[in-house]
Amino acid sequence: MAKHIAVLPCDGAGKEVVPEAIKVLTAAGANFEYEEFDINADAYLRTKVAIPAEVWSQLERADAILFGSVGDPRVPDADYLAGVLLRLRFELDLYVNLRPARLYDDRLSPLRREDRRAVDLLVVRENTEGLYVGMGGRFKKGTEHEVAIQEDVNTYTGVTRIIEYAFQVAKKEVVMVDKSNAMTYAGALWQERWKAVAAKHPKIKTRHLFVDAAAMQLVKDPTQFDVIVTGNLFGDILSDLTAELIGGMGIAPSGNINPETKRGLFEPVHGTAPDIAGRGLVNPIGAILSASMMVRHLGQTDMAEAIEGAVKSAIVAGECTRDLGGNLSTGECGDAIARRLKD
Ligand code: NAI
Ligand code: MG
Repeated sequence: MAKHIAVLPCDGAGKEVVPEAIKVLTAAGANFEYEEFDINADAYLRTKVAIPAEVWSQLERADAILFGSVGDPRVPDADYLAGVLLRLRFELDLYVNLRPARLYDDRLSPLRREDRRAVDLLVVRENTEGLYVGMGGRFKKGTEHEVAIQEDVNTYTGVTRIIEYAFQVAKKEVVMVDKSNAMTYAGALWQERWKAVAAKHPKIKTRHLFVDAAAMQLVKDPTQFDVIVTGNLFGDILSDLTAELIGGMGIAPSGNINPETKRGLFEPVHGTAPDIAGRGLVNPIGAILSASMMVRHLGQTDMAEAIEGAVKSAIVAGECTRDLGGNLSTGECGDAIARRLKD
């Protein structure tokens, strides 16, 4: 039976990169049934509903969701983003956010050096709690006496399961990143769960870093990292940094998954890139590598590796968009990768 993939291109750059991901999946021989949904800012402006109930039930049933990016200057970011992407992550309980950073060609790293740099790390970001849950409020809003409170929610179960997952995927070492020296309550829970889970995995090396030190070490020597596990906010920030280490926002993929239910939503790390959208300048590789992660999640490891190999080969040959030093359009870059899979 063909797997059923729900496709949500959404807005701006998302609409340009998702068709390229499907082009590459087809060239790789993926036997998927795609169903595209009209979830985007235009529909939201028309209906004031981010995801209609009948669409939601279909998204819940899909084998996986292939997602572009959401955001549009005409709609308030917070309500719309919360109604689409955060709702999908939270209500489908996609608690693992995987953000790999692998350097395919040395010229793409801003930290270029003479010797080869084997950057190949994975940020495992907690995806359903932390500062992104939207709890808090504004007291005396709009006055000089305003008090704004944004709650950082950390649960025993949430912290335990994300740290456990990091050990499941680590080959050598897990580095846990927090700010437990300053954020002492949440930090204490992370520290306790970290020590308890680490004790169950004596074969994997462990290290702890405060988030500021982690940012510094990522720039100093990114090759030292295998798996980094951290909370929602720190994972969001550090994974933009790791994206830049391997060539920028255009190339970084991500997967939002629940390892127990097997649900998954795969999306490039970037947003809708309003500064370059609609002119063929958007790099489709982040979306294509996200599709490769989706294929791997669905159990087709060989196909996932073939797609990644085709991406690497196109990058090394310079057959890529301008942000990676090439001169191809979005569609031509997709073609260059698809062609390598058909040969
Ligand atoms: P962004 O990721 O859209 O853009 C940041 C920078 O990276 C821009 O200079 C852009 O040109 C560049 N860039 C992004 N994707 C690229 C690609 N595929 N190829 C080449 N260059 C690329 O982030 P920004 O500007 O902060 O946000 C724009 C909109 O996207 C906002 O509405 C924001 O809320 C939304 N957003 C949505 C996300 C999602 O759907 N997961 C994630 C981040 C932002
Ligand atoms: Mg981000």
